[in-house]
Parts: sequence; C-alpha cells; structure tokens
Amino acid sequence: MQNFIYYTPTKLIFGENAISHLVESLKPYGKRVLLTYGGGSIKKIGLYDKVLELLSDFEVYELSGIEPNPKYDPSVLDGVAICKEHKIDVVLAVGGGSVLDCSKAICAGALYDGDPWDLITYKVKAKTALPLVDILTLAATGSEYDSGGVISRTETNDKIGYMDELLFPRVSILDPKYTYSVSKRQTAAGTADAINHVIEQYFAKDTSILTDGMCEATIKSLMKNVVIALEDPTNYKARAELMVDCSLACNGILSIGNSGSGWPCHGIEHALSGYYNITHGEGLAIITPHWMKHILNDNTLERFVSYGVNIFGIDKNLDKYEIANKAIKATSDFFKSINIPMTLREVGIDDSRLQEMAHHIAINEGLENAYAPLNEKDILEILKASL
Ligand code: NZQ
Ligand code: ZN
Repeated sequence: MQNFIYYTPTKLIFGENAISHLVESLKPYGKRVLLTYGGGSIKKIGLYDKVLELLSDFEVYELSGIEPNPKYDPSVLDGVAICKEHKIDVVLAVGGGSVLDCSKAICAGALYDGDPWDLITYKVKAKTALPLVDILTLAATGSEYDSGGVISRTETNDKIGYMDELLFPRVSILDPKYTYSVSKRQTAAGTADAINHVIEQYFAKDTSILTDGMCEATIKSLMKNVVIALEDPTNYKARAELMVDCSLACNGILSIGNSGSGWPCHGIEHALSGYYNITHGEGLAIITPHWMKHILNDNTLERFVSYGVNIFGIDKNLDKYEIANKAIKATSDFFKSINIPMTLREVGIDDSRLQEMAHHIAINEGLENAYAPLNEKDILEILKASL
C-alpha cells in the first residue's frame, strides 16, 4: 500500500427534501450569493423557484447558461466579473457537473487579481477561493464530492482538469428526486462516466482487497441501478443508489492507498470533448473497450481476470485471455445495452483530426506514465479503433 493523505472536507446532505438545509448551509458565509445554473432544466423542475423562495433574505445575483463542457469564455469569466463587481460572499451552484465545475473555477478566479486561466493551468496556485455550496441535479461526475473541475477553452481545443483543495464544495445537497427528470441519454452517459471513474482506479498496479471490493461493488451497483432508472425514471431507490455511487466514484476513497493509474481514458476523452464538444460519458464509453483491448498483455492480464470474474461473473476456470476478452466484450455490450452510441462516427467524429488529437493528448496528458503507458502511436491506434 502507498502512503496517502486523504482529505474530503465536503459535507454531504443527502435525501428527500435535503434542500431544507440550504439556508443554514449558506448563512455562515454571508448574504451576497451568486446563483449559477445551466440551460434551464432547474426551472422546468421547479427547483429555481424553490431556491429563490428559500433565499428571500439573501442578495442573489445570477449566472445562467453554463453549457455542458463548461466554457472559460464566457461562463467562467462572466462569473468572476459578477463576483468582483458585487463582492459575492458565496457561490451556489445548482445543476450537473458542468455547472459545479464552472462554479469552482469562478470561486478561485473571484479572489485572484490576474487571469483565472493562470490558476486553471497551474501557472499560479490560488491562495484562497470563495466558498461553494451546490445542489446536484445529475448523478455522474462526482464534482459534488471532489476538488476538481474541468474547463474548456474553445479557441485552443483545450479541456483541462483543474484540482485544488480550496475547491471542495463546503456543502453538497443531494436529493435523488431532482434527478428524476434527467433524460435517458444523460442518465446513461452519467453512469458510464462513473463506471469509467471506477475502472480508471481499478486498473492500477498496487491495489488492495478493500479497494478492489469497493470498486467491484460500485460498478455492479451502477450497472444494476441504471437499468432500473432507465425503465422507471422516478424509482427513488435506483436514483438514490446511483447518486451515492457517483459521488464516491471520483473522490479517491475507492482507490485509497493504491498506486495511481494516470486516468488514461479521461486523458483521451478530454480531447474528444475539447475538439468536438461531445458528451463526456459517451466519449468514455466509446474509448474504454478499445483502450482495454490495447493494453491487454501479460502484465495486465491478472487485472482483467479479476475484473471479468468478480464483476461479470465469468467462469474463473477458463483460460485467462479468454476471461479477459469476454470481460472487454461484456463492458462494451453493457454500454450498448443502455443505448450509448459506441463509435466515434456516431457522435460526429471522423478520422480527419485523429492524428492532431493524438498529438495533443500525448503532449498534455502525461499518459506515458499511465498504468499501461501510452505514447502518441498507442493513443492514435486507440482512437482509430474507436471510429
Ligand atoms: O443545462 P441544463 O439545462 O441544466 O441541462 C443539463 C445539460 O444539458 C442536463 N441536466 C442536468 N440536470 C438535469 C438535466 N436535465 C434534466 N433534469 C435534470 N435534473 O444535463 C445536461 C448535461 O449536464 P452536465 O452538467 O454537462 O452533465 P455532467 O454532470 O455529466 O457533467 C459533465 C461535465 O463534467 C466534467 C465533464 O468533463 C463535463 O465537462 N467532469 C467533471 C469531473 C469532476 N469535477 O470531478 C470529473 C469527470 O470525469 C468529468 O470530466
Ligand atoms: Zn469522467
């Protein structure tokens, strides 16, 4: 087991009517609130009105229109400007991972004098940040329980993961009922994202019985509950289990004490979304089986055997490579079964920029240090196989 420092200061308030804790969650930070949200789903489900009603004693400013794969310009820059102009005390993000991620960058940029991009690219380390409280409406990224955000910059095709302990939400309010309205497509994509978060941690050199067991249980829970939620979108138990699975899938607890894996599928997917603005979970689902096929060899075989036997129940007496190949096929078949498009062409990506993306990934994502190291040629092969 590796040395570790584990730190997750976020208070999770979970369950039906968790929003009754909103006022007490914001009050310690001050009266001036920046309410951030996306394209309007929170209005359709009545959450926007409910939030404003609860915040009647606060001074509320708004930043709306935060898009999936949130953009530095205009969303982060606009949010920072509002915070500075109105001396905002606390940011309240209401939405999915994109709204939360954008809000984290705003929290950091609001108390920084220079260009917030300096912080996102780690040119400068933030000294302080505004506090963030959130109400999550989509189970997927785990942004509600981690210190990271992913910000896109359209003009350079950059999609950059940015982490800082200052950016853990102070409070995350999780009511599974707010996810009832999430479309089938986003429910499937969000679950695929979380499944991949676990896979990225499971495929590592140094793991433990504890972390393997937690990862395997989380993947099984995600696979079972997403099927129920797709058939019955207002099934509370399934939505609740998905929400907790997703929150735990990305905050490090599932790989506590393990060696790092380099998160290769995420490194590759960031370029797909950065260049083509595709849905993150769909990009991951497409890449994952091809990445698996590419890295299967004598060094990684045992991990595939554990994955196949313990998650998909494949007969442990079969030849190890047969188990591994069946496990890869089962992964792909599962994503297909929940109607995720499983080729790059289906999400609008052709072969014209694969080489450029492979180069971008190779120089920016550090995948030569991944669990199974990937150079530019490897990345290009995975992208081509995913077409
Ligand atoms: O914009 P609105 O109208 O709110 O609609 C959103 C959006 O169109 C909709 N939606 C959200 N809640 C809904 C709802 N529709 C109906 N009912 C609801 N209750 O869903 C669409 C997608 O929302 P988005 O926030 O983009 O989805 P997700 O939560 O999957 O976030 C994706 C972003 O998070 C990043 C991804 O790269 C991507 O940019 N990630 C963040 C991570 C983190 N912070 O740790 C880790 C992840 O690996 C990931 O990279
Ligand atoms: Zn992800």
